[in-house]
Amino acid sequence: MDSKHRRDFLKLCVASIPALAFANVVSADEKKSQAVAQPAYRTPGSLEPYIDPLPIPKRLMPHGTSKDQYRVRMLEFKQPMHSQLPPTRLWGYEGQYPGPTIEALRGRSIVVQWENHLPAQHIFEIDPHIHGAMPPTPAVRTVPHLHGSRSRSESDGLPEKWFAAGSSARYDYPNSQPAATLWYHDHALGITRMNVYAGLSGFFLLRDDEERSMDLPSGDYEIPLLLQDRTLDDQGQLVYSPTHDDGLKLPPGVWGPEFFGDLPAVNGAIYPYLNVEPRPYRLRILNGCNSRFLNVSFNLAKSPTDIPSLITFHQIGTDGGFLPKPAALNKVLLGPAERADLIADFSGLEGKIVTLSNNAPAPFPGWEMATTTHAALYEFMQFRVSLPISNKGKSFSMPPAIAFTQLDETKAVATRDFVLSELMDDKGRSLGLRINDKGYDDPVTEHVKLGSIEKWRFINTTEDAHPMHLHLVQFQVLQRQGFNAGAFRNGTLEFMGAPRPPQANEAGWKDTAVVNPRDVLTIIVRFEGYTGRYLFHCHMLEHEDNDMMRPFEVVPEG
Ligand code: C2O
Ligand code: CU
Ligand code: CU
Repeated sequence: MDSKHRRDFLKLCVASIPALAFANVVSADEKKSQAVAQPAYRTPGSLEPYIDPLPIPKRLMPHGTSKDQYRVRMLEFKQPMHSQLPPTRLWGYEGQYPGPTIEALRGRSIVVQWENHLPAQHIFEIDPHIHGAMPPTPAVRTVPHLHGSRSRSESDGLPEKWFAAGSSARYDYPNSQPAATLWYHDHALGITRMNVYAGLSGFFLLRDDEERSMDLPSGDYEIPLLLQDRTLDDQGQLVYSPTHDDGLKLPPGVWGPEFFGDLPAVNGAIYPYLNVEPRPYRLRILNGCNSRFLNVSFNLAKSPTDIPSLITFHQIGTDGGFLPKPAALNKVLLGPAERADLIADFSGLEGKIVTLSNNAPAPFPGWEMATTTHAALYEFMQFRVSLPISNKGKSFSMPPAIAFTQLDETKAVATRDFVLSELMDDKGRSLGLRINDKGYDDPVTEHVKLGSIEKWRFINTTEDAHPMHLHLVQFQVLQRQGFNAGAFRNGTLEFMGAPRPPQANEAGWKDTAVVNPRDVLTIIVRFEGYTGRYLFHCHMLEHEDNDMMRPFEVVPEG
C-alpha cells in the first residue's frame, strides 16, 4: 500500500470518530516549527557494555506484625543505570527500580498499603491535552495495578482511581489463581507511560503446590528479568521523547504514538552481565517496554553482526501460569507486558558467553516501512558461563504435561468485536488510537455476566501490532486470521487465509496477546471472580494513554 492509500485506508477506518478533544492538539506544522535542538543522547556505543553485574530486585518483606501485610512507598531517588554514568533520577516502589519482588502463595491473600511519597513535580513534562491529564489534575498522581491478577475492582488500580502525593490506598490481593509471573506497575490515567518509564514497575511472583512439585530451578537459579528500553542524556538522566511512526521526534511534553529508547536495560541496568553455572536456570522474562516488541533469543555468536548461533530453550509458562506442556523454542516474541517463564540450560557451555539478544523491528512489525525508523536493540545482557557447578547431585527434568482445560467454544454466550483504529491528521501522523471509535471515558458498552464465557475479536485496521490486555481475567487465544480490508471498509468482516491456532508457547493462560496489522485475534475468556468495573486496553503505554482503553463491567449472573 503506498502512503496515500495507507492514509485513505486509515481515514476511512476512523471516519465516524466524533470531534474529540483534539482542538488543543498542536498541529503537525506547529510541531515542526517547535522542533527543538536535540540534546545529546547516550548511544549504545558510548557505554562500555557488560561491565556491570545484573541487579536482582530485593524481595519485599512484610510490614508490621502479620506476614500478609505489606507497605510499599513510591519514592524519588537516584541510582546509576551504568557505572560509567552519574546516578539517574528515578521513581520507584520502596525507592528501588525495578520495585521489590513480591512473592505470594496461592490461596493466601495479602494486603498492600501503597503510599505515594513522590515530590510535587513530575520528572517529565506532561501533555495536558490528553484525556485524564487536563488541568487541574495534579501532575504527580499514581495508582498501582497488579497486572494479571484476579482482584476486586476496588483493588484493581483503575486508572481514574489515582491518588496524589501524600495519599495512599490499601489493596487486597486474594491470590486465588494458579502460580504465575505477574507484575505490578503504575496505571494513572493519562500518564501511565511516564510513570512506568520513571521506574514504577516490579515483579509479583505467585507460587503454588503444583509449581513446588515440579522442582524447578529456584533460589540463585531463578532469575526475574525486566527488559526495558530507556533513553538517557549526557548526564545519565532519563529522557522521555516519543515519536511518530515515521520517526519524527516530538517536542517535550507532547504525546506521541510510540516511544523507543536507545539503550537496553535489564532490571534497571544497561548492558549487565550475569555469571552463571553450567546448569539449567529458570528465567522469568517480562517485556516492560513502553512500546517496543522483543523477539528474544540466547545467542552464542560473539557480535550481533555474526551469524547467530542460538541455543534452544524451553518455555514452561505464559502470562497466567504453566503451559500444558513445555515448548522448545529458539526465539520468543513478547509484546509489551507479555511474560515468558523459561528454562535456559547452560549445561555444557562452560567458558562460553550467551547473549540475550533481540531482533524485533521498531515499530513492530514494520511491514509498511521501507526501513524501520528506530534501531533494533540487538543485545540486552550477557550470561557468562563462568561459575563452577555447585550442588552437582541435583538433577533436573523438564516439567511434565499438566492438566489443562481448554475453554469450550460452544459455551460462549457472546462474540464481541473490537475495531482497533488510529486517528490521523492530514499528514498521516497519529492523533490518538481508539477501540470501536471510543475512548476510556465513553460510557461502558461491554456488560459481561459473571461466570460466563465469551469470545472477543480484536480487528486491527492499523499499521502497528497491538498487545491487547484484559484486567481481571486470564484468557486463551483461539486463533488469528487475516481479513479483507476493502470489504471491511464497506462494513463486512471477510476473513482471508487460513485461521492460525496459537503456537505451542501461547497455548496457555494469557492476559495479553498480540494482534498483527490486518489480522483478527480471537480470544475466549471466562469472566470469573468478581462483579464490578474493569478495563481492557492496548499495552503499548503510549496507546493506552491516548486512548486505546475501554472499561467493561462484570454484572451478576441471571
Ligand atoms: Cu499492565 Cu491495565 O495493565
Ligand atoms: Cu493489567
Ligand atoms: Cu496499541
